[in-house]
Amino acid sequence: MISIKSEREIALLEKAGNIVYETHKYLEPFIKPGITTAELDKLAYDFILKNGATPSFKGYEGYPASICTSINQEVVHGIPSKKKLKNGDIIAIDIGACYKGYHGDSAWTYAVGEITDEAKYLMEHTKKSLYIGLNEVKPGNRIGDIGFAISEYATKHNLGVIKELVGHGVGTNIHEEPDVPNYGIKGTGPVLKEGMVIAIEPMLTLGSPEICILDDDWTIETEDYSLSAHYEHTVVVTNNGYKILTGGKNGEE
Ligand code: MF3
Ligand code: CO
Repeated sequence: MISIKSEREIALLEKAGNIVYETHKYLEPFIKPGITTAELDKLAYDFILKNGATPSFKGYEGYPASICTSINQEVVHGIPSKKKLKNGDIIAIDIGACYKGYHGDSAWTYAVGEITDEAKYLMEHTKKSLYIGLNEVKPGNRIGDIGFAISEYATKHNLGVIKELVGHGVGTNIHEEPDVPNYGIKGTGPVLKEGMVIAIEPMLTLGSPEICILDDDWTIETEDYSLSAHYEHTVVVTNNGYKILTGGKNGEE
């Protein structure tokens, strides 16, 4: 069952989403060569608590940190550690916050210092693919329309689409129905209805889309070690489209 959220619930989801957005903005100036991912995690933890929320990921299925920090060939679920960021890295930071029982979930990829043109290309088109997917979000469209649009765009730009990891519904649980794959067939899957809340999160690669999981049982990376980027927003389906919940109070992305 895909739940339809009430106006009260959407307001709380938006508050949670806004805290996620503010946490991204707070971290951004710290994303520089020399900082460790554990330091970023601590900054995020303190910031989320200060804003009256709790980090959604901490303890989720035993996840040990507040945010996920996935560097270069790492796709998702990188665990913050003593490893320092280096000039030329790209880092996907995934943040979840829970406010009064409701979650927000958003990931963004950042450049560390000066990055290659290839890395810029990957980031630019992965971000664009998120908006291409969002463009399909309106009542009457189906989940398959979103994935179709994302994978068509990615393929056209020679980027690999990771299929094992998907977006999801969001509410009083960080992961709810439905699954929102980044590939699909137009006109298939659950029908979108006003009040549904979903997270769309394309993960694209410069090389092969095959992935493997590391010995820490969390970090997922590309099998061929190619760079990967990840962008995610939580959105609510409105009467004629969607509204981003994990943006700024004045509609900033
Ligand atoms: N945003 C991530 C996702 O949707 C959630 C991370 S789950 C955690 O997959 F377990 F790593 F916390
Ligand atoms: Co997510």
